[in-house]
Amino acid sequence: MKPCIALTKGRLEKQFLEYFQSLSYDIEPLKNKGRKLRVETDDFLFVFAKGVDVTTYVEHGIADLGIVGEDILAEFQPDVYSLFPLPFGQCRMALAVEDGKEWPNRKRRIASKYTNITKEFFRQKGESVDIFKLEGSVELAPILGLADGIVDIVETGTTLKENGLVVKEEFMQFSARIIANRSSLKIKRDVLAPVIQSFQKGVSV
Ligand code: PRP
Repeated sequence: MKPCIALTKGRLEKQFLEYFQSLSYDIEPLKNKGRKLRVETDDFLFVFAKGVDVTTYVEHGIADLGIVGEDILAEFQPDVYSLFPLPFGQCRMALAVEDGKEWPNRKRRIASKYTNITKEFFRQKGESVDIFKLEGSVELAPILGLADGIVDIVETGTTLKENGLVVKEEFMQFSARIIANRSSLKIKRDVLAPVIQSFQKGVSV
């Protein structure tokens, strides 16, 4: 059976396709998939999901391998085998605030998609904050007055800039990573080992 690889949709997906092509794999079926969430190529079965769902599919062995941001692994700590970082998807985690606005001298309110990372960040500072969980467009929270700051990933910095926010502190660096289901690695070793090797060496098998 072909190995099943779960891919994170969106930004990482594009970067993965470029990387995959650079390994001399044929990416045409993936480029032309339209709205399909499951695509079979000569070598693999690909499924497309949100980052955190990629880890769920890999954790439960539905997908043998997954391509996911390290931010997701740090936040949700799924029970998967984290193989190695890939040369794309670089970003950092930052605390950002409204440009020119004073950092208040009371209990601060922080909005984030990454509540565990936020909790740990402020715990290490010895600061108690109120955390608001959002699912996206987190930059809105300070502008609309929900929060004093946000903890979020910054890649190019464009979203912060275009919404009048600036980085106050950067504290983690991430890239994309290849993860594997623990038992797939043992049971399907023959078929997975060459694939993993090709990703590691940056060449196709
Ligand atoms: C992420 C992140 C920032 C943005 C940063 O959001 O949450 O909003 O990308 O990227 P930049 O520094 O290159 O501007 P994403 O695009 O994943 O969408 P979301 O707001 O729906 O989470």
